[in-house]
Amino acid sequence: MRLTHVIVATIVLAAPATAQGLRGPDEFKIIEDQSERSKALFNEMAKVITSPRCMNCHPVGDLPLQGDEMRPHNPPVVRWDESGFGPPGLHCSSCHGAENAEFASGGGSIPGHQPWHLPPVSMGWIGLSVGEICEQLKDPERNGNLTLADIAEHNATDGLVGWAWNPGKGRTPAPGTQAIFGELTESWIETGAACPS
Ligand code: HEC
Ligand code: HEC
Repeated sequence: MRLTHVIVATIVLAAPATAQGLRGPDEFKIIEDQSERSKALFNEMAKVITSPRCMNCHPVGDLPLQGDEMRPHNPPVVRWDESGFGPPGLHCSSCHGAENAEFASGGGSIPGHQPWHLPPVSMGWIGLSVGEICEQLKDPERNGNLTLADIAEHNATDGLVGWAWNPGKGRTPAPGTQAIFGELTESWIETGAACPS
């Protein structure tokens, strides 16, 4: 009992990098088994990945989703082809600009960041388990031929990823910060990029 309390206190003190519901990689050093630590790190990353901010843009079908409740995109739009920019004449950028734009009526906003578009179907996550998403991320045949180092870089620096922490009025940001998410990804890879089952 006592020991548990000491451990909990240590975790809290040693975790300056934790923010808004996302724990930094240092909090996982207590897990000695490398593979178990790696899985735990991915489960923490999954708090970001499975947030509506990421999932809405990573559908398995042709239709993006909207809002915290992940409703179908209104007005209806489709990816059109693998490049994911929508049909000629109604590209995503017809409505999605370089910045979030508040509705004139107040209330909400149209998200904005360039180049706003859907990833290929192979990178769709909705309906997949956390373990399945993990396997997708690691698979060059489905991840756009990225190395693990590329994935770490993408998570730490990509602008569409970063938009999730600045999503505009009417949307809940992804948990934590992009910096912590990037650090978690790096530690997950350093510990062998193991996937939870
Ligand atoms: C506006 C749409 C959009 C949003 C929002 C978005 N993504 Fe993506 N994502 C893409 C596109 C498009 C690609 C394909 C690669 C590219 O063109 O950059 C991609 C690719 C990826 C990849 C690499 C390929 C793979 O294996 O899936 C990762 C990792 C990723 N996104 C993570 C995220 C995370 C994490 C979030 C939320 C924090 C997020 N994305 C939010 C559009 C989006
Ligand atoms: C005709 C205008 C229009 C077009 C074209 C359009 N969108 Fe949207 N989109 C909107 C509006 C408006 C919203 C905000 C709705 C709201 O939140 O009430 C939105 C919201 C979204 C969201 C929700 C983000 C979130 O997490 O809440 C995603 C994802 C999205 N659009 C992706 C796309 C993609 C990808 C394309 C191109 C294939 C596209 N949109 C084309 C008008 C458009």
